[in-house]
Amino acid sequence: MAQVREHWGSRLGLILAMAGNAVGLGNFLRFPTQAADNGGGAFMIPYMIAMLIIAIPLMWTEWAIGRYGGAKGHGTTPAIFQLLWKNPISKYIGALGLFVPFIVLCYYIYIESWTLGYSVFSLLGLLPHPDPNLSQGQFLKPFQEFLENYTRPSVTAYVFFLLTVAFNAYILYRGIKGGIEKFAKVAMPTLFILAFALMVRVILIETPNGTAVQGLDFLWHPDFSQLSNPKVWLAAAGQVFFTLSLGFGAIITYASYIKKDDDIVASGLASASLNELAEVILGGSIAIPAAVAFFGVMNATAVAHSGAFNLAFVSLPAIFSNLTGGNFLGFIWFFLLFFAGATSSVAISMPIIAFLEDEFGLSRKTAVTVTVIFTFLVAQIPIFMPKALDEMDFWAGTFFVVLFAFLEVIVFFWFFGGKRAWEEINRGALFKVPRVYYYILKYVTPVSLLIILSAWTISSLPSKLLQSDPQVWFARFVMVLILALQLFMVYLADRKRRRLEE
Ligand code: PHE
Ligand code: NA
Repeated sequence: MAQVREHWGSRLGLILAMAGNAVGLGNFLRFPTQAADNGGGAFMIPYMIAMLIIAIPLMWTEWAIGRYGGAKGHGTTPAIFQLLWKNPISKYIGALGLFVPFIVLCYYIYIESWTLGYSVFSLLGLLPHPDPNLSQGQFLKPFQEFLENYTRPSVTAYVFFLLTVAFNAYILYRGIKGGIEKFAKVAMPTLFILAFALMVRVILIETPNGTAVQGLDFLWHPDFSQLSNPKVWLAAAGQVFFTLSLGFGAIITYASYIKKDDDIVASGLASASLNELAEVILGGSIAIPAAVAFFGVMNATAVAHSGAFNLAFVSLPAIFSNLTGGNFLGFIWFFLLFFAGATSSVAISMPIIAFLEDEFGLSRKTAVTVTVIFTFLVAQIPIFMPKALDEMDFWAGTFFVVLFAFLEVIVFFWFFGGKRAWEEINRGALFKVPRVYYYILKYVTPVSLLIILSAWTISSLPSKLLQSDPQVWFARFVMVLILALQLFMVYLADRKRRRLEE
């Protein structure tokens, strides 16, 4: 046990790895559809507010919690919460920091594998090429059918899923510095260049139906009347969580590989800024503007409402099929999504791996193997049951992240103590966090999180709980089973630790 803990190789590597963690499918698919659906430019007001009073402070909290735990040899919240708060219950609360990332990983990696499949199809010209003179519905139809056939799931989809799992496993086997960091140093610059190039090409699209500039106008046109709708505020908060990977345990585990006195205030801000650049500038300027230029403003609303998957896997390939060099443009689009997805899926794999290594003394290799096998098995559920995927996404990806984030702030700023927490955040920082954030973290952030949680509980929990599809019940059953298993392992780890201390 107690091997020397790995560390990130350089500050740039750390920032890129953390940016890789954050920049994902959420930036290019979830953000533009959420914004278009929730007031366009006006969406940015709740978005910015949530960023300032919830996301940024929470981001520093997670970096600080992780670095603190890592210095004591622990990279996941069951052990770290126990260090921060002596109450025996703390480690079981910390189990949420294993549950959330594992459940999300099991469906995220499957969707990521579609992007790999579609990049290959684009490159080889295997996607449909219907006659551009067809009506819009007729023109989109072959792409819809292609997606339906692919996700049935087809054998091809399964093969790409296996390849994606293998690719993730390969990076994880190579470790923090030699795997994740090295990959991020290649993937992140590549992703930014590809997205930038695609953005430039998209902005130039002009068809008889419209232009991409009208698309930007459509996306950013503020509808302020939407601001009185609580749904818009919840959507903004949800997007900010998802995009910065907050409440997923993934940042904490990455941060546990930071050296004890390395600056986290500036590095945290740098990686969050890269994410926002990729989200607001690049993410906002590709999918929706292309859809507007191609289908016209009237129809683009329908496209935005049809959801992120339709936009990514139906509308965009359809648009590209009509442009010169469309196969290649399609390849760029899906391949950049694949890189965005892969740098995120390795991040959500790390909590389980670190837990097995830190608390049970497993070698990196064994820990990765165990994690990959479990991921592969549980991923069969979202692969074969689309309704189960939605259910897993709701609980792990929407509800528990916010609950878990709330608990993080309470444990850190109230039980560990505001003064110590504040010192932890600022230790080693070139620029200290402005004092006002002390009060924000102590009062404003937890209260805002409570409000979000209550609003969700009232507005969407009842309808969620009333769903009784067999697939939904199966997903719930497996999730409870996984949580129980993880709680049991937390118990075993704790018993082991006590024995060693005697
Ligand atoms: N932030 C990622 C995205 O925008 C999603 C993610 C969440 C990744 C949690 C890792 C951990 O797509
Ligand atoms: Na993101």
